[in-house]
Amino acid sequence: MVEISTSILSVKKGEENKAIFALEKAKTDYFHIDIMDGKFVEKNTYDKMFGISSYIRRISNLPLDVHLMVDNVKEAINDFLAVEPNIITFHLESCKEKNEIYDLIKYIKENNCRVGIAIKPCTKIEDVYEFLPFIHMCLVMTVEPGKGGQTLIPETIEKIKTLKVYIEENNLEIDIEADGGINLATVENVKDAGANILVSGTAILMAKDYKVIIDELKKE
Ligand code: DX5
Ligand code: ZN
Repeated sequence: MVEISTSILSVKKGEENKAIFALEKAKTDYFHIDIMDGKFVEKNTYDKMFGISSYIRRISNLPLDVHLMVDNVKEAINDFLAVEPNIITFHLESCKEKNEIYDLIKYIKENNCRVGIAIKPCTKIEDVYEFLPFIHMCLVMTVEPGKGGQTLIPETIEKIKTLKVYIEENNLEIDIEADGGINLATVENVKDAGANILVSGTAILMAKDYKVIIDELKKE
């Protein structure tokens, strides 16, 4: 059974609390927290997402799935450890060299948090292979990072398939998270390709009944 990680990036201003309670009731598996610094991507959601994730941590035990789209990964890790995330995912493209990636993986683990590495649509899936034995999840962006409500890029489905085969052939225990443009029209291809954690924001937040859409997305 796949898990759903609801992105709260596009939650309407002033309706944050209502949405959080409704998502908890609708049994989202994770809250997906999109942290953008205005440098790695154009938008800056840093303070807004810190506020919302702090609020969620106070009222909910559901796991926080933190997605860092930032240049200064170490600084963001230190800031967001405060909301006790279940997993922190940073972008391969934020790092200049391999040692930095290994140091970040180690640092996140030392702080009792699971680790994910994210790759943009233009990044080759092979670029993440060497890090897979040391992390818990690979986040394959199925849209360009930076905003919600985009259309899934079909070529990224192939990347998920290739990653799934590599994971199985190398007996690795690792989650594949697909992130961006996931809705009832695209979900089947993403699941068939091998993703087992699906991020969805717009498709869920625009629904009248969150539980109906979450159950639909999860359906085998
Ligand atoms: C985009 C974010 C995604 C996005 C998903 O940079 O990483 O998590 O918010 O939202 P939808 O489902 O609207 O594409
Ligand atoms: Zn995301």
